[in-house]
Amino acid sequence: MDNKILAPSLISAKFDNLEGFMDKLEQSKAEWLHIDVMDGHFVPNLSFGSKIIETLRSKSTLFFDVHMMVENPSNFMLEHIANSGADLISIHYEACDCVNTTLKKIKSYGSKAGLAISPETNLIDVGEYLKNVDHVLIMSVNPGFDGQDFLPESVDKIKQIVKYRKDNNLNFTIGVDGGVCPNNAQFIASLGVDIIVMGSAIFRNGKFYKNIDAFHGLINQ
Ligand code: DX5
Ligand code: ZN
Repeated sequence: MDNKILAPSLISAKFDNLEGFMDKLEQSKAEWLHIDVMDGHFVPNLSFGSKIIETLRSKSTLFFDVHMMVENPSNFMLEHIANSGADLISIHYEACDCVNTTLKKIKSYGSKAGLAISPETNLIDVGEYLKNVDHVLIMSVNPGFDGQDFLPESVDKIKQIVKYRKDNNLNFTIGVDGGVCPNNAQFIASLGVDIIVMGSAIFRNGKFYKNIDAFHGLINQ
């Protein structure tokens, strides 16, 4: 994948005018929308569920990248998230007893299956799953909240996963999520990842759709 994809993270958006927000998003250079599902258990925070995703789906053609920060998501929950319009569902290695079975379930519901990896997890622990995934999401902050600083030790892990994919001839996409801002976005993109998730940096100051286009330019320089 040559073109790097910018995935704005919905959790940082303002919710005062959802219709207008989705319209502008659609016209921007964003190709993916990153949607954080949080259960108040695996992470302390609560966010969105399938009903919201379904509503957004009816207003958008973007690729819906759903990041499940949920302890042992049930088949019921995954099926609903898939049916609500998730193109990709990433589960957390740390939150799942049966990773391979869950990845298979997600695919059987018609979505792509991803594995998200928290900062405390080493790649060596997830090696056995990487041949079964469509996407790997490297968390560069502790999951749960937007607006945190990028953890510098994530750089090594990003380099390792890019190398692992190449050495093993695999073709999953690689995303980085957490603490990406204008100061580090270009560097992170240069490490060989495909998708850059950005939350607070996009929505903090100015017009979000202008920020999206500017940051898209930055990661594709
Ligand atoms: C953190 C979420 C991220 C978050 C990114 O738990 O998974 O998607 O929204 O926000 P920033 O870019 O502000 O770190
Ligand atoms: Zn996320």
